[in-house]
Amino acid sequence: MQIRLADLDRIRRYKLLTALVVPRPIALVTSVGPEGVVNAAPYSFFNLFSQDPALVVLGIERREGPVQKDTGRNIEATAEFVVNLVDEDLAERMNLCAVDFPPEISEVEIAGLTILPSTTVRPGRLAEAPAALECKKLVTLLPGGGRELVVGEILAVHVRDGLIEPATLRLDLERWRPVGRLFGNLYCRTRDRFELVRMSYRSWLAERAGSGAGGEPGGER
Ligand SMILES: Cc1cc2nc3c(=O)[nH]c(=O)nc-3n(C[C@H](O)[C@H](O)[C@H](O)COP(=O)(O)O)c2cc1C
Repeated sequence: MQIRLADLDRIRRYKLLTALVVPRPIALVTSVGPEGVVNAAPYSFFNLFSQDPALVVLGIERREGPVQKDTGRNIEATAEFVVNLVDEDLAERMNLCAVDFPPEISEVEIAGLTILPSTTVRPGRLAEAPAALECKKLVTLLPGGGRELVVGEILAVHVRDGLIEPATLRLDLERWRPVGRLFGNLYCRTRDRFELVRMSYRSWLAERAGSGAGGEPGGER
């Protein structure tokens, strides 16, 4: 079946594309409003795009009106935000932070979350998050339809003690339990894993020739 996107309205496009491109990581973004209110809201139009510079992108829609969401407005005003990563323990409180509270209400307080100071940006990070990325906005793209694509550079990373081995920076997979977003109200855990060893062309040729040279550690090369 081929679907022409031009034939679909916004809602049907959203439904189709967000169900196909899964799972998506969830950024529980903290930012600070003009009156100093700490805002927290989840964004799953989110991912990591490179490590040097370390870049993330957030896709922030407008509310009807169109009205800017608090996160978009705060980032536009301050150019700073923190991406708090979401694990199984934090999932329900993350969902509470998605309620369209007015800007003067802090989701952090409503959800009973705790703010810790960041080291490089003004918005704090969430003590309950297993990891947090302090970010500075590099650029905001406005591709149309009232959507903001915020490109941010990660300036500092926090990982909960015990989750990562300091010398090797390896995560303890028993304790690292991020959740992903599927579509609608569905989420997934990341505990069902399998391994695929990535090969170079040389090792692929060797394997094909029957020598079984094996693979190599992967990387975004
Ligand atoms: C898991 C999850 C992911 C979400 N992802 C996005 C997203 O990528 N973009 C967006 O505009 N809204 C997204 N939302 C909705 C916002 O979180 C919601 O509109 C929220 O009220 C925005 O809060 P703010 O105005 O404080 O920024 C998501 C909601 C949930 C529960």
